[in-house]
Amino acid sequence: MIEVSHLSRRFGSFVAVDDLSFTVRPGEVLGFLGPNGAGKSTTMKMIAGFIAPSAGSVRIFGRDVQQQTQDARRLIGYLPEGAPSYEDMRVMEFLRFIGKVRSLRGADLDARLDSVVERMDLGGVLQQRIETLSKGFKRRVGLAQAILHDPQVLILDEPTDGLDPNQKHQVRELIRGLSDEKIVVVSTHILEEVHAVCNRAIIVAHGRVVADGTPAELESRSPTHRAVHLHLAEAYAGAVAAIAALAGVREVRADADGKRLLVLPHPEASPLAALARLVHDRGWVADELHVERGKLDEVFRNITREAA
Ligand SMILES: Nc1ncnc2c1ncn2[C@@H]1O[C@H](COP(=O)(O)OP(=O)(O)OP(=O)(O)O)[C@@H](O)[C@H]1O
Ligand SMILES: [Mg+2]
Repeated sequence: MIEVSHLSRRFGSFVAVDDLSFTVRPGEVLGFLGPNGAGKSTTMKMIAGFIAPSAGSVRIFGRDVQQQTQDARRLIGYLPEGAPSYEDMRVMEFLRFIGKVRSLRGADLDARLDSVVERMDLGGVLQQRIETLSKGFKRRVGLAQAILHDPQVLILDEPTDGLDPNQKHQVRELIRGLSDEKIVVVSTHILEEVHAVCNRAIIVAHGRVVADGTPAELESRSPTHRAVHLHLAEAYAGAVAAIAALAGVREVRADADGKRLLVLPHPEASPLAALARLVHDRGWVADELHVERGKLDEVFRNITREAA
């Protein structure tokens, strides 16, 4: 597992990461979220052993990243922010070089190369110089080098940034496929991605953890969690008042034309069944009725604004 313990990093007098502690276990895909400048990349660099902490420690399956750097790094695949690589190398040459650095040799190396080339769909660009690749293909090469040695722990800093929808989907599938026995920490600004791949999310702001839970737990903190959207065929007289009088309803918001209603529940209440019954009993025609899970972006904004 990854044990991050009282991790801090200063740049001069500026505190980028401030006494961060959390643990990630095999099978967890941790979404690492936070506003620009929150300290996500700095934390990931310290987990990967790329920069040293000012205080605190990171252990990867018991190996201290600072004390047992080689042992710890062997267990980690790391995609840095922006996926930098050796621009003047050709793709295959670069991957082969990384494989050797990772102590892969002979048939093992060939098999791993075949596997990542197929997974990241790099077959068409193997002899191309990295500097001439499109942004998305550079990202794919970065991902390929991160998974080449089949590491136990994957640290991916905005892996889908700049990818086309097909590649985004493919990378999310890849992460999901890896996650059974491995640990994945992935930073992203795409909150739908958190749903698609993560079973846990940590939100950081100003270098501190401000929320930690499953995506569903975080969503339940949204003001519109369990709210019901109702679209009526016409603005029936007395509809808003009748709905507002139902048990569990805190507030009803109607659009200007009175047909589109948002029914906000009291905490813990779910007014859907009562609402459906009312619509049926009154003979109203409804062409839309659905419950909202809550919006992660709303929760993100609220939490990070509070932290500011
Ligand atoms: N080498 C450095 N020297 C000085 N300040 C730095 C350095 N690296 C990072 N910082 C500062 O530390 C803070 C955290 O940066 P970091 O890159 O970790 O943020 P982030 O959460 O990854 O943001 P983003 O979402 O924009 O990628 C920022 O204010 C950044 O300017
Ligand atoms: Mg970053």
